[in-house]
Amino acid sequence: MWINPLKSIILMLFPTSHLSKKRELNMSKIMDGKKVSKDIKKWIIQRTKELKDSTGVVPGLASILVGNDPASEIYVRNKRRACERCGMLSEEYNLPEETSEEELLSLIERLNLNEKIHGILVQLPLPIHMNPEKVIRKVSPDKDVDGFHPENTGKLFQENPSAISCTPYGIEKLLDYYGIEIFGKHVVVVGKSNIVGKPAAALMLNRDATVTIAHIETENLQAITTMADILIVAIGDPQFIKKEMIKEGAVVVDVGINRSESGKIVGDIDFEDVKGKASYITPVPGGVGPMTITMLLWNTLEAAETFALGK
Ligand code: GUN
Repeated sequence: MWINPLKSIILMLFPTSHLSKKRELNMSKIMDGKKVSKDIKKWIIQRTKELKDSTGVVPGLASILVGNDPASEIYVRNKRRACERCGMLSEEYNLPEETSEEELLSLIERLNLNEKIHGILVQLPLPIHMNPEKVIRKVSPDKDVDGFHPENTGKLFQENPSAISCTPYGIEKLLDYYGIEIFGKHVVVVGKSNIVGKPAAALMLNRDATVTIAHIETENLQAITTMADILIVAIGDPQFIKKEMIKEGAVVVDVGINRSESGKIVGDIDFEDVKGKASYITPVPGGVGPMTITMLLWNTLEAAETFALGK
């Protein structure tokens, strides 16, 4: 079994008082991504400072945004701010929609060679005239803090990960924080994207869960989701998962960030409907989202440490 080095740090950092022994009747425990992120960020700030003091290296993240998709602008801005708050260097490249693929590739090439930059993030989705696979492959695997490069996804599937994509990594840390057993449990992942569904499944498999990947084309989805001890949903369909679709006492993790018809931000899980039946649940916002950003910082710090110390 692959032992995640971060797990021992998490166990060392966090007290066990949050582990509930018994679920109160009809009450789901909220997995508070904001709080957990805050705790992990304290650790990141400390390690960032230690790295700077001992080697002079300041972890640097370059974020590239092509076009002006409003949601992507917010994500990139939040990533930059989080980076700066942790004492890291952050460079943001906002390129116009009509930027050619060649121009983007040559910017990535320059950043690959820039010694002040240890992590490169190309915000997805890209404009349709660009080939995302080609762009992702251009990022040096050593600076691929998103964990999207095929070399890094391949290593994850071979239980020898280096950079792990941030959302699945954040989910794993949330589950660990709340003392939720993964070993031997049935994890059902709904969604098969390269960014979340597939790496989440690999990560859970590496922790010796039994994993089923389902998606929106799965026949009789409810028969599958109701088998889950841990249900991870990443389909981008507002409030799709209702209480009939989960098992009593299941742990439910909501990756979706959608806008409801009334303009409210909601997940893929109908929180109000499910919350009495699940043992643990992530809210939206404030669940998986903050963890994604935090694990991006974590990956950037690790990339900088590898650069500085050759770890
Ligand atoms: N678009 C949506 N999620 C992500 C992410 O985690 N990383 C990048 N680069 N783009 C995204």
